[in-house]
Amino acid sequence: MDLSKIRNFSIIAHVDHGKSTLADRILEFTGMVSRRELREQMLDTLDIERERGITIKLQAVKIKYKDYTLHLIDTPGHVDFSYEVSRALAACEGALLLVDATQGIQAQTVANFWKAVEQDLVIIPVINKIDLPSADPERVKRQIEEVLGIPGDEAILASAKEGIGIEEILKAIIERIPPPKGDPKAPLKALIFDSYYDPYRGAVAFVRIVDGEVRPGMKIRLFSTGKEFEVTEVGAQMPKMTKLEKLSAGEVGYIAASIKDVRDIRIGDTITDAKNPAKEPVPGFRPVKPMVFAGIYPSEGYTYEELRDALEKYAINDAAIVYEPETSPALGLGFRVGFLGLLHMEIVQERLEREYGVSIVTTAPSVVYRVRLKNGQVKEIKNPSELPENMGLVEAIEEPYVLVTIIVPKDFVGNVINLCQEKRGIQKRFLYLDPNTAMLEYEMPLSEIIMDFHDKIKGVSKGYASYDYEFIGYREEDLVKLTVFINNEPVDALSFIVHRDKAYRRARQIVEKLKEVVPRQLFEVKVQAGIGNRIIASERIPPLRANVTAKCYGGDVTRKKKLLEKQKEGKKRLKQFGKVELPQEAFLTVLKVD
Ligand code: GTP
Repeated sequence: MDLSKIRNFSIIAHVDHGKSTLADRILEFTGMVSRRELREQMLDTLDIERERGITIKLQAVKIKYKDYTLHLIDTPGHVDFSYEVSRALAACEGALLLVDATQGIQAQTVANFWKAVEQDLVIIPVINKIDLPSADPERVKRQIEEVLGIPGDEAILASAKEGIGIEEILKAIIERIPPPKGDPKAPLKALIFDSYYDPYRGAVAFVRIVDGEVRPGMKIRLFSTGKEFEVTEVGAQMPKMTKLEKLSAGEVGYIAASIKDVRDIRIGDTITDAKNPAKEPVPGFRPVKPMVFAGIYPSEGYTYEELRDALEKYAINDAAIVYEPETSPALGLGFRVGFLGLLHMEIVQERLEREYGVSIVTTAPSVVYRVRLKNGQVKEIKNPSELPENMGLVEAIEEPYVLVTIIVPKDFVGNVINLCQEKRGIQKRFLYLDPNTAMLEYEMPLSEIIMDFHDKIKGVSKGYASYDYEFIGYREEDLVKLTVFINNEPVDALSFIVHRDKAYRRARQIVEKLKEVVPRQLFEVKVQAGIGNRIIASERIPPLRANVTAKCYGGDVTRKKKLLEKQKEGKKRLKQFGKVELPQEAFLTVLKVD
């Protein structure tokens, strides 16, 4: 194919600024789908995506427009999937940067803009939703100039909803974005920017062909693992999956090769020709690293085996999760599962229950701590219970830090600063994007973010603040393990690691919260929290007075006695096993305190 007639681009934006709607409109305008065929947000294919109205997996569509071939790559907007955004951008020469005309620049607008700049992309600003009465495109133009350094008059005014500006956007794509470079005669080099599992084709890789070409029958090799497969099919989404004879340099499409497990296809990896391999992969590959871990256990009525089967099936489709078996004295056999972030975790939970039919209990998520031992060893701790019993062996504990970027209207700046200080944030930058909008940057422990930062920041800003964060490294902190005891038994699944300065407050709050959510039992329940074995907070949940004797009217004393004895026995047994029934809510109370 003539490279000069190809354009590869992405749409990047803050969440809800209208990416999927714009993609739909472009497909409709170019005649790739008819209005009748066009379901709302065609590109969001998973049910759960459509229900939540967010994009989880990016997809690539081949569009014929005039005598051009355009490849549109849709990207996820949420911070958990930012690595996928970066790799999708690496497959493009340009990006539409979509900004909501009523909201202006938000945290992920800035974050995604910088990702596009890092990939040397041509950026076309598009101001969307100009149909809304509160739209202020002039203000957004000024922000684009001042914050991003792009001349405001380069911005295209559009309404994805009403179909305004679509032709102008297509014209700008062709005129401003350069065609791809690449050598169709060189050995195959294909960048994987997405993958998914298809019951018929196996694991499918979405790729940008950098050099060479790929056809069915060819033997391919993955650079990172050296594994080899034979190509069964190549093609493109138009927007339906459509078989093609080949994909060649500059093009975007999919490769299927009867691969059984989606984890063999890593986003960012390079596919090459096994017989005539390229010397170097496309640069920038790194395996994704889960940042947040939680325990997942079968809830009552489901077995460990059922959960294992469900997880195995689920993981075939989601290359980003990792899991290993773990045992909890409180919850039994289950798994420790690693996620990219909290949203990813919620999605996994929901899909396991809904699509794979198991009911689960999830423990409070934890970040990965690094424990330096006095003997020089370094241990990565994914579960607070893995912290050595003997703290005398520990030299230091390190926790992951992130740089948080926050954009907020000026009226809420004070609240946001207070919140960030409470969350152990260190201010790095504070500036005004325009007279009414401030941008702040803080270094902050990731654990504080996963705790309840999202709800808190939305709360103190009436929902107006937006934020984004990126991992910046590990730092040593004065951290301690807080253990929760129920009737004197430590409950591993409720224990967590916390900064020493906050230990007392958190301990008090957690026992109070547990008192609220643990249902009263037939016996008294003691709830305590401590550092090591030193109790620092304690509450009692009084027993239910089950009036079993009420049924025995009047005189029959022996019967009454028997009943009372039976009840006593029952009490003993329950106590003995510490069998307090903890509801799912109890395991998440850890997140609800600050
Ligand atoms: P994520 O996939 O979650 O990142 O969101 P998105 O950026 O793809 O946004 P989406 O297309 O789902 O649009 C978000 C909301 O804005 C939807 O309710 C759309 O109907 C609405 N919307 C999108 N474009 C326009 C527009 O031009 N005008 C108006 N009034 N509403 C729009």
